[in-house]
Amino acid sequence: MKLICVSNEHEMSLEASRLIGALVRITPDAILGLATGSTPLGTYGELSRMFLEENLDFSCIRTINLDEYIGLDGSHPQSYRAFMAGYLFGRINIPPANTFVPDGMAEDIEGECRKFDELMEQMGRVDLQLLGIGANGHIGFNEPADCFTSNFHCTELTEDTIEANSRFFDRREDVPTHAITMGMRGIMNARRLLILASGKKKANAVAEACFGPVTPRVPGSIIQLHPDVTVIADWEALSDTGLFEEAE
Ligand code: F6R
Repeated sequence: MKLICVSNEHEMSLEASRLIGALVRITPDAILGLATGSTPLGTYGELSRMFLEENLDFSCIRTINLDEYIGLDGSHPQSYRAFMAGYLFGRINIPPANTFVPDGMAEDIEGECRKFDELMEQMGRVDLQLLGIGANGHIGFNEPADCFTSNFHCTELTEDTIEANSRFFDRREDVPTHAITMGMRGIMNARRLLILASGKKKANAVAEACFGPVTPRVPGSIIQLHPDVTVIADWEALSDTGLFEEAE
């Protein structure tokens, strides 16, 4: 595991966008696995700037997203399809047909999950999977559980996650209770994992995911089994790891 310690969220975003930008230049037809939430916002902003000002070309890039809320249409402002359109896809030259986000309004959710597993098979390996981490240790919407789930699946969001994500909604009751998420096979099959974290509220999750036992109780801990992981985190997010105790 490579651990890049940065001073703050802005530096985290710059570092992440440099890595992703370099991949896009070296491999113009790369497959990117993408995340939503607050964590990648600065990275997406910087990639959009690199498209505008530095000719970063996304025309042959394909993307697949980790998750989507069940019950939100792609046009709902809090859907992850709308998030991606607003913060990245609509700001770069990626063809819409190259972007894949599960449909949270699919009549047959199990069928939609199977469709995404098949899609991943057909696309080939994701070159880089971008991940945030929940304060409860989740990656994608793989919530703490008794076992890891390998395929795309429908998941019930924990109270912690609903509470954390309610900041994006007018009312807590509006937060969907279920989501479609990529499973651990899809995440772990990526050639490279890039995990971003900033802020004190992620400190425990980062410490447990990077250095604790590998357990489905801390879903992010599975990254320890991946051969090519880069974690970019700020001091606050690393503050429970014990790495800087002497320096402090
Ligand atoms: C989002 C996702 C989630 C988030 C996590 C952290 O697509 O997969 O695992 O990465 O909930 O969310 P933020 O970044 O909002 O703290």
